[in-house]
Amino acid sequence: MTKTIVIAPGDGIGQEVTPVAAKALEILHPDWTYIPVDLGYECYQKTGNPLSNNAFQTLKESDAILFGAITTPPSKDYGSILLQIRKELDLYANIRPIQAPGIDIIIVRENTEGLYSGIEWREKDRACTVRVVSEAGTRRIIRSAVELAKKRRGHLTIGTKANVLASDAYFYEIALDEISKTTEPITHTMKYIDALVLDVITHPTQYDVIVTTNMFGDILSDAAAYLCGGLGMLPSANIGASHHSLFEPVHGSAPDIAGTNRANPVAAIRSAALLMQHLGDSHGAAYLETAIQNTWKAGIKTQDLGGNASTTEFSDEFLKQLSVCMQ
Ligand code: NAI
Ligand code: MG
Repeated sequence: MTKTIVIAPGDGIGQEVTPVAAKALEILHPDWTYIPVDLGYECYQKTGNPLSNNAFQTLKESDAILFGAITTPPSKDYGSILLQIRKELDLYANIRPIQAPGIDIIIVRENTEGLYSGIEWREKDRACTVRVVSEAGTRRIIRSAVELAKKRRGHLTIGTKANVLASDAYFYEIALDEISKTTEPITHTMKYIDALVLDVITHPTQYDVIVTTNMFGDILSDAAAYLCGGLGMLPSANIGASHHSLFEPVHGSAPDIAGTNRANPVAAIRSAALLMQHLGDSHGAAYLETAIQNTWKAGIKTQDLGGNASTTEFSDEFLKQLSVCMQ
């Protein structure tokens, strides 16, 4: 059956790394329909609106979204449209695989509440942000993590600051209750998030699935990018209970290198691979990873990995390698 895929490059390097990932999807799935959508900060500067109603409707009607990255300037008046999209499409599970030789971790980050609930206000001499941890929100993210752990090595780490935050003590309590309901037993450990960030980097092979709240998961996954060569390498999937889904690199719009043709498109290509897997084509997803590996073997690496290839040189070689894989 045909699928409708939205291609939303967004801002900065999102516009440089998304085209090759979209091209790879078109090559592997000429049967799918691709709809470009303009959104983000540059769209706001052009039109006064970072996400028009029409654009949002198109996202809502798609089977999957391939998202680049967006710029969100620190401002009390401009909120992140990505948080809005995740919330409105109820994409509550942010799945972030951290894979490198000998390392295979999945971070499951709660994606709709926690410190990014959007409940915040300014007063005369202070600003407040409410950290919401709900029972339903916790149960569903723990279930997603447990399901993943069952299919993998059967170990779950719960990252919290339950020693200090009542909201995390609650998260842990609900997590234990939810884990106790699983018929296939999994092993589980709770670790405080500050020590966990260091331990994941120093002892990565000890981890299988890690589940945590929204902002802790955001920070943990950026730090864990160290294990596999940096932010240019890490993809993510945003999924929920409905048919909506969004796939994006973990990195942002990287204004420091935007426009210089230096961005590594691997995270974007791997996000396209997660999209294909989600839509049932694991075979096609594997082609993308093989073509990435073969591009590196051919000596084409971007600067973040110690090479000297530009984004375009990497992308051209990758597409060549992809066509070789497909023969
Ligand atoms: P960032 O992830 O954009 O960049 C952090 C560092 O990693 C920079 O030095 C950048 O050059 C490097 N980097 C990132 N991706 C790379 C790639 N593919 N290849 C090579 N180097 C890469 O994070 P930063 O600087 O904190 O945020 C920049 C903007 O992006 C902000 O406006 C922020 O709000 C936004 N952002 C958006 C996200 C999204 O759309 N999902 C996620 C994170 C940040
Ligand atoms: Mg982040």
